[in-house]
Amino acid sequence: MEDELKRLRAAALEALAAVNEADQLESFRVEYLGRKGLLSTVMRRLGQVAKEDRPRLGQLANTIKREVEELFQQKKKQLSSTGVAEAVPEDLSLPGRSLPFGKLHPVTQVMEEILGVFEGMGFAVAEGPDVELEHYNFEALNIPKHHPARDMHDTFYVTDSILLRTHTSPMQARIMEKLEPPLRYIAPGKVYRCDSDITHTPMFHQVEGFMVDYKVSFADLKGVLTSFTRRMFKDDLALRFRPSFFPFTEPSAEVDIACVICGGSGCRVCKHTGWLEILGAGLIDPEVLKKVGYDPEIYSGFAFGLGVERVAMLKYGIDDIRLFYENDLRFLAQF
Ligand code: FA5
Repeated sequence: MEDELKRLRAAALEALAAVNEADQLESFRVEYLGRKGLLSTVMRRLGQVAKEDRPRLGQLANTIKREVEELFQQKKKQLSSTGVAEAVPEDLSLPGRSLPFGKLHPVTQVMEEILGVFEGMGFAVAEGPDVELEHYNFEALNIPKHHPARDMHDTFYVTDSILLRTHTSPMQARIMEKLEPPLRYIAPGKVYRCDSDITHTPMFHQVEGFMVDYKVSFADLKGVLTSFTRRMFKDDLALRFRPSFFPFTEPSAEVDIACVICGGSGCRVCKHTGWLEILGAGLIDPEVLKKVGYDPEIYSGFAFGLGVERVAMLKYGIDDIRLFYENDLRFLAQF
């Protein structure tokens, strides 16, 4: 076996010296160094030689293998530095590996759909800051300090007068103080409240909508919201206006739609009522109009604030709002 190994070494060195192209190098690798190559075949037979010769012959075989591998690597470097291409991959006609496509978050998809519906009805889009002055979040909306309505908002304060906005309604005041009626605006964005359960998250999205003009009435509000829900969901979806209270609208209502998850029969999402609240709305309080310098004897308006995650839950039959923000790709990739 010793002679055989030495002959193999000489043959390998001679064959390697004759290599001057990448495909010859690859054939050399397969013939001498491959798993079924000549060196491996001889080494597999080491088990059959006499026990006392085995360590010496094993060492010799390993030294030769290492030497041939090293020379092979040197040759490879030499060929690539002289511009001879690397060994060609086995099958150029194999299809490439495709990369997985990213997708828009379901809340973003629903937000875009909502904006599309209102833009189709002639509303313009405006955006405002998440970190808001207390003045716009509360005072400008007829919610003075110590007003009990502030308790409904579970506010995150940054300083005494700066906070994370608790709703998109500050955009009503910001837009109205800059522009004159007629106005028809929607203002989408993130809002924040210290709140968390299966229908509440500490950060969620709202779309504020409002319209100010001569003689805008509650009938206009009902018409706009009914067409919106019909377009977002199905034509015969039940919708109800429930009397409510907001300091910045009078009269005020909350709008529920029939729970799409249980079909109205009652489940944990709709708290067994068959209805799920998706927005608050009303006619803009004359006090709010006065604060931005509009004459409430001349102008009137409606406003609404819609919860985007709630709409997404109903659209896709999702029974826990927190799933949107757990970043589990198995959930997110379904949309
Ligand atoms: C408001 O935020 C009012 N600014 C809405 C409004 C605007 C009324 C203009 C009148 C005129 P409310 O707190 O009810 O109202 O929230 C509005 C909607 O946001 C709710 O109907 C619900 O769909 C959604 N919402 C409220 N809190 C959460 C929460 N923690 N997580 C997810 N969605 C929420």
